[in-house]
Amino acid sequence: MYSIDRYTTGDDLAASLRDDVATGLAASPKWLPPKWFYDERGSTLFERITELDVYYPTRREWEILHRCAREIARVTRAQTLVELGSGSSRKTRALLDALSHLDTLQGYVPVDVSEAALVGAADGLRPDYRDLDIHPVVADFEHHVDLLPRDGRRLIAFLGGTVGNLDPMQRAKFFAAVRASMDSGDSLLLGTDLVKDPARLVAAYDDPQGVTAEFNRNVLRVINRELEADFDVEAFDHVALWNADEERIEMWLRASRAMRVNIAGLPLQVEFVTGEQMRTELSAKFTETRVRDELDLAGLRLMRWWTDKRADFALSLAIPADC
Ligand code: SAH
Ligand code: TRP
Repeated sequence: MYSIDRYTTGDDLAASLRDDVATGLAASPKWLPPKWFYDERGSTLFERITELDVYYPTRREWEILHRCAREIARVTRAQTLVELGSGSSRKTRALLDALSHLDTLQGYVPVDVSEAALVGAADGLRPDYRDLDIHPVVADFEHHVDLLPRDGRRLIAFLGGTVGNLDPMQRAKFFAAVRASMDSGDSLLLGTDLVKDPARLVAAYDDPQGVTAEFNRNVLRVINRELEADFDVEAFDHVALWNADEERIEMWLRASRAMRVNIAGLPLQVEFVTGEQMRTELSAKFTETRVRDELDLAGLRLMRWWTDKRADFALSLAIPADC
């Protein structure tokens, strides 16, 4: 059995959702923060995205993990694997297997804002990793890295390219907090999607089956439910575009007609004009130099850089620069 730790309660989450929605909808252009996609339905939709033909990042990262997990285990000799934004923990098995094989691993700490995802992941792992101390934590990786368990030599994994969902300032804060929480012997394993042909990038975020569109609109369903709002979810179209200056994919929702939305739980009324776009997600794409520079700035040294055969996706291993 396992017990779940919560660094953030339902009340905290509700309060920060209210703040985020009030701030984002008052801005011009309007925006919504991405962590609210992932209620139970959102987490399930994301899993379906990872299986789409056009969505290559999950398969590419899996390919790298399978090729390099033993080397990662050998270099880190980690006793605790802490995984931020762990979701289904499916790819993590490659790391758990390689670390168990070396006999160093004692604990796995999956960290996610979605309790539903954590429960699903822990239940899935339990029968296959009976000796492993699985310790799920409901927490926000933008605020709680310093509170996470510090037992033994830790490998902190942040996979899926999720770090690209933070803007450059949030990333700088995040890397600094991770660095500050690391002891000598700890390491960071970071998955980043790489800059490539924009047509392939856009396709990965705009599948023909409309799963990504449904995922994007899910944030409106969450707000309708949690904040008693009356968004007409189907009246918003999914838009994915490549922002070449910022080297990132952006997801927007476009109002197909003029609307007034009432958010009773705030309370707040917002107007949309026909064609108005609201930003819901960004997904930065990286180069080796950019990853190295951002890590450097936070006092982290890039030790290893692996890509898949097509150089679509990268895994980086970093340690504190002064250790
Ligand atoms: N690592 C998995 C899942 C990636 S999807 C993979 O590679 O497939 C992003 C995950 O991060 C989701 O499970 C989501 O619930 C979680 N997440 C998003 N924002 C978060 C935050 N601020 N703090 C903690 N988890 C977050
Ligand atoms: N971390 C994922 C990524 O940036 C999240 C993601 C994939 C996503 N597809 C999406 C977020 C569509 C919003 C909409 O690749």
